Amino acid sequence: MGPRVERWDSRRYLQFEEERTLPCRDLVHRVALTNPARIVDLGCGTGSSTSVLRARWPAAHLTGLDSSPEMLEAARKSSDATEWVAADLRTWSATAPYDLVFSNAALQWLPDHRSLLPRLWSWVAENGGLAFQVPARGSPEPAWLAAVAALRSRTPWDRLSGDDPAIANVLSPEAYYDVLGPSARRVEMWDTVYAHVFPDARSILDWIQGTGLRPLLQQLPEPAARQLFLDELGREIADRYPLRADGRVVFPFLRRFAIAYR
Ligand SMILES: C[S@@+](CC[C@H](N)C(=O)[O-])C[C@H]1O[C@@H](n2cnc3c(N)ncnc32)[C@H](O)[C@@H]1O
Repeated sequence: MGPRVERWDSRRYLQFEEERTLPCRDLVHRVALTNPARIVDLGCGTGSSTSVLRARWPAAHLTGLDSSPEMLEAARKSSDATEWVAADLRTWSATAPYDLVFSNAALQWLPDHRSLLPRLWSWVAENGGLAFQVPARGSPEPAWLAAVAALRSRTPWDRLSGDDPAIANVLSPEAYYDVLGPSARRVEMWDTVYAHVFPDARSILDWIQGTGLRPLLQQLPEPAARQLFLDELGREIADRYPLRADGRVVFPFLRRFAIAYR
């Protein structure tokens, strides 16, 4: 993982709520559990994913957990029927099993999935499931990552530290199977490329600023340096995402899904 992630900007994150919620809805839809009584949403953020869970299983006892006070503050406004927990997943532990341990677009921020997933799996009740979705790298390399890499190969940006934004922690489906398969009744995994249509290339910069770019931006607290970095990155991105005939851009984004049933 790159530098420690401290602050989240809930407004920036919500800017693309529709696009960001789509994979969550797809994952919730695929979970083959009829009536989970207890569900935990790990890294619940502003509560968008928790709302999707509530819509599918209104009778469930829902817990939303996040380490960011800013995100949780927004989440609390979304529902008072949910138990909201401020905690860091790296140290938190469940005190009672959950029928569904769920996480949408959050685990990529945590290192060492080979030891993280057995912990999450140990919180799953008999006949329950663990379901998660994370952004993934895939092949060929996403153009926005190539744009970031091009910038980081030049001074002064070569002094920025850390692996490629967040995605570095994400494992292959084979590796996830090796961790979960031996003790699961069934494991289902798939990748989906979401080809988002954005009004302009600038939106791509806005999108990655809300998530993957954060560990790098946190190393640029000085506003002028940060703006220069964003301006240069904006040009690198514009070069790699040609405008369509109507002036919009298509932004493919790969996501990895897994559901393991106990
Ligand atoms: C991209 S947001 C996803 C939010 C939500 N699940 C959704 O689908 O909209 C990732 C969330 O993970 C949280 N997060 C990152 N590291 C965490 C940790 N170590 N413990 C708990 N939450 C964490 C962040 O605070 C952030 O709210």
